[in-house]
Amino acid sequence: MEKVTVTIDGRKVEVPKTATVLEAAQAAGVKVPTLCYHPELRPEGACRVCMVEVKGARSLVASCVYPVNDGMVVNTNTADVREGRKTVVELLLANHPQDCFSCARNLNCELQSIAADLGIRKIRFDGEQTNYPLDDKNPCLVRDQSKCILCGRCIRACSERQGVHVYSFTNRGFNTTVSPAFGQGLDQVACTYCGQCSAVCPTAAIVEKDDTASVWKAISDPTKHVVVQTAPAVRVA
Ligand code: FES
Repeated sequence: MEKVTVTIDGRKVEVPKTATVLEAAQAAGVKVPTLCYHPELRPEGACRVCMVEVKGARSLVASCVYPVNDGMVVNTNTADVREGRKTVVELLLANHPQDCFSCARNLNCELQSIAADLGIRKIRFDGEQTNYPLDDKNPCLVRDQSKCILCGRCIRACSERQGVHVYSFTNRGFNTTVSPAFGQGLDQVACTYCGQCSAVCPTAAIVEKDDTASVWKAISDPTKHVVVQTAPAVRVA
């Protein structure tokens, strides 16, 4: 495959011409934070946490979807980049429940970890907060839309990996949600309870229930619409 040379934070690296800037950074051993990106799913460019500076570009770019060019010069850690990332994460946190200590994903949450890496101690933005009821009427998963950052990983895992297509974006702007069609619960749609959505969720918007007895009862119930999982499990990045 044809290769191009890219300079990332002063390190020259040769990557395939079809690579993204994020892949070039990874090849150069430079860590760029990501949220909506998952190595086993199609990149979406939704969260902008992976923004970097590309010499000659008019604004910061989302490295997970930005293609490389031969001779491209990229800086991943300038003051502008850090400030931009911080603003994006603060905006996500502004509409996020502040309940980390009692959250099921405490210390295992990508949003929490990125906020800590960026040194966010308080959120500058104050405003309306969304508040949705829990979707927990099924035996296996709990969906908490209030913790969803709209990264779309669950949508892609469910459709690309499992071919089930349970989730989609609904509504627009501040009212955008990720949910089964027509706001139905997971118990009302063709969810197979494979757990792939929960495995790729970067926060606690989708978590598995602790009650494994009820999970096994559900998946061994022949009247339930469970199909055999055909794709290998997705690893959490
Ligand atoms: Fe690139 Fe979200 S990780 S835009």
